[in-house]
Formats: sequence, C-alpha cells, structure tokens
Amino acid sequence: MTSDTLTARQPPRRADFPADFAFGTATAAFQVEGAVTEDGRGVSIWDTFSHTPGRIADASNADVTCDHYHRWESDLDLMQGLGVNAYRFSVAWPRVQPFGSGAVNPAGLDFYERLVDGMLARGIRPYLTLYHWDLPQPLQDAGGWANRDTADRFAEYASVVAGRLGSRVASYATLNEPWCSSILSYQIGEHAPGLQDRRAALSAAHHLLLGHGQAMSALRGLNLTSQLGTVLNFTAVSPATQAPEDVAAARILDGTFNRWFIEPLLTGAYPRDVWGHYGPDVPEVHPGDLELISQPLDYLGVNYYTRNVVTAAGEQPTPGAEYTEMGWEVYPQGLTNLLTRFKRDYPLPPVYVTENGSAFVDIVEGGQIHDPRRTAYLQSHLNAVHAAMQAGVDVRGYFLWSFMDNFEWAHGYTKRFGLLYTDYKTQARTWKDSGLWFQSFLNQPVLP
Ligand code: NOJ
Repeated sequence: MTSDTLTARQPPRRADFPADFAFGTATAAFQVEGAVTEDGRGVSIWDTFSHTPGRIADASNADVTCDHYHRWESDLDLMQGLGVNAYRFSVAWPRVQPFGSGAVNPAGLDFYERLVDGMLARGIRPYLTLYHWDLPQPLQDAGGWANRDTADRFAEYASVVAGRLGSRVASYATLNEPWCSSILSYQIGEHAPGLQDRRAALSAAHHLLLGHGQAMSALRGLNLTSQLGTVLNFTAVSPATQAPEDVAAARILDGTFNRWFIEPLLTGAYPRDVWGHYGPDVPEVHPGDLELISQPLDYLGVNYYTRNVVTAAGEQPTPGAEYTEMGWEVYPQGLTNLLTRFKRDYPLPPVYVTENGSAFVDIVEGGQIHDPRRTAYLQSHLNAVHAAMQAGVDVRGYFLWSFMDNFEWAHGYTKRFGLLYTDYKTQARTWKDSGLWFQSFLNQPVLP
C-alpha cells in the first residue's frame, strides 16, 4: 500500500480499534505549564536556553506559554469534552527537585497529584513521562547527561515521583525521545544545552539509556500496577535511489536515528555498523550497563512524524509530496512500515503511538479554525496505525500531538500543532476543525 492509498482511504472509524484502546492527546510540562518561578520550582536547562539570545526563533520563552499550571482544571474539562480516555503529560523535574538531587519540593508533587486526580475524576487515564527535556540546571552545571552521575540522579527522581503518585498513574515513561535530548542537544546544538560535540552527545545518549534502566529497576521495586516503559522517536528513512552510496547513507541515518536507541533497549547491544561509523566517539559502556538498559519493558512508546529521503550528498525533498510547516513530509505509510519492521526484527513489547501530529498555519475566521490538512494528517495516520494492527502489531493506544498549541522548543510559538488553538494574549482556547473531527471520531460507537 502506498501513502496515496492510505490518504485516500475512508476516514478511520472508532470501531476499527478495540474498545479499551487508549486514545489521547499529548503535551509536555515545559511546553504548556508556564509559572516557571512559582511554588518552589527550580531552573531547568530550557529556562536558561530560551533566555539566551539567538536560541529561539521568535525570541520567546516559556515563562507563561499556555499557563496550564493555573488553568489545568478547565484544560482537563476541555479534554473530557473531547472524549479521550487517556492523557500523556510530563512532570517537570525542577518542580519536584529544584536542584536536581536531594531536597524534594512537596508543592511540586502536590501539583501533579492534583492533575492526576483531576484526570481520574474525569475518566482520563494518566500517561506520565518523567523526563521531557527539562533537566534541572544544577545538573547541567555538573555536565548534564554527559555526566554518568545524572543517570543515578534520574532514578532517584523517578522514585520520588512514583512514590507519591503510585499506581494512580496508568503508565510511566522514563524518557521522551532520547535522540533529541542527546544528539539534537549535544551534537547538533539546536536544543538545550546547545552544544556541538559528538562525543559528548553519544555519552549523553548512553547515560540517558542508563538512566532509563536504573529508573526501571527503581520503579519495579515499588510494585506498582502501572505499566512501565519508555518513548523513542523514529523517522522513516528511504534512499532517494538504489545507488549503493544512497542506500548506504540511508542505512546510516536509520542507524544513528532509529537503531542506536531501539536496539540497546530491545536486544541489549548497540548496532555494530553504527558503532563502527562513530569511531572514537563511541560512549564508555561499563559492564552491566546493557543488561540494565535492556530489561523488559511493559510497552514501547513510538513517536512518529515524518520520513527522510536521503542521498549520499544529503537529504532531498520528495517530488509531489505534502510537507507540514516544520518542513516534514507527510508519509503515513512510514508509520506502518516501521511498526511492522520492528515486530519482524525485535522482541517487540506492546506499542503505544505516544506522539503523532502536524503543524500548519492556522487562521481564526469568525471564531473558527479550518484546518483540513491537520484533519487529513490525523485520519491518514490513524489508518496507518490500523494497518499495522491488521498486520499483527500489538498497538494499544494513540496520542495526538498536541492537545493545544504550545511552546515548540527552538521554534518558539511559530509552529502550531494543537487540536485547540491557543490565543497567547488572552489564553482563550478554541477547537480547530481537526479537534471537532477527533471528537466526532471518539464519540462514535465502539462496536461496528
Ligand atoms: C517531539 C516532542 O516530544 C515534542 O515535545 C514536540 O513538541 C513534538 N515532537 C513536535 O515537534
């Protein structure tokens, strides 16, 4: 099946998915909360980075962003009205441990307890991410993820959060997209802390995975009924031609982006070809690290947005393809392909699509936002998930990025991914047509 046939298919139906399938939206603390100095919250690397001139496209910061820290109750009401049964959110480490280690700030935990209880009261299952990039600044001052100690600190923080929230949380994810918090942050330099050092990036990536493993062990020790796993980002990779040099370039991109993270987790080894490619920059791996990293997961979270078409000389656009405002190709088939390939190649645990979504320019017209391209993106990707399930992949849920427009990291407020339009001046939230379509989908009968 090609992406054209997927896009052209009938809109998905709720009854195509099991009754208990998790349907939700996703956000992250730093992108929506604001209130960065309230109730004892410490400073994170993203506070520092976003206040550094030249780092954020529109010179903005997330000091206020969607003000969700104060508006969480009405936001949860909107979510309930949408009809989702799950919500993926993250906990800000510096709210819980303002210095990244030691002293715990009870007010920070109180906030997440209110939020979790608020979800449960509305019939929404909490899917909690422990690390969505807002490392406490004091830990960065000690080397950040390039410092092996950060993995220990992370496991300690994970225990504090789970010790308070316990099994009320349906699912704990240790990390969100470690490729971003290592390669994009320490090698490419586009995300905090904004370094350009491949060796440090690979060391950060290893310590993130190690932190995941240590946090898994710590959380297992709490005997929770919650599902424990982690979230990786994947891109579909295609060589532009079958020329051997293009095929080799595609293999390296797939290796550095996808296999470098999924293979240690699911097979207990780094991919040999990529290890060779990285030469002297490979991380220091201690005995026992890969055993910790590859301990069983209850689920794997998959974030998927796009594909990259590569030549030996670099990336190349696909003629005739549709692109989002991020410059990302719309390629739903890539999601089906990746999921079926993972099932074929690895001992794959149950999967949740923990993020998928699209940024387009949104215009408010008479109080409405007509965003047919976002709706089409959502529909075609739901069809892609369904196709993977029909091919035998055990997919348990789908989370649309994002519940509302929010702070898109280095892009600031210039990219809108939300089902809700956020008016940053008034903090009014307005459903886009895509949100209304998702609502109608979610409210269809669960049986055919
Ligand atoms: C990846 C990240 O997890 C999320 O924070 C980000 O906003 C979206 N994808 C869109 O880029």
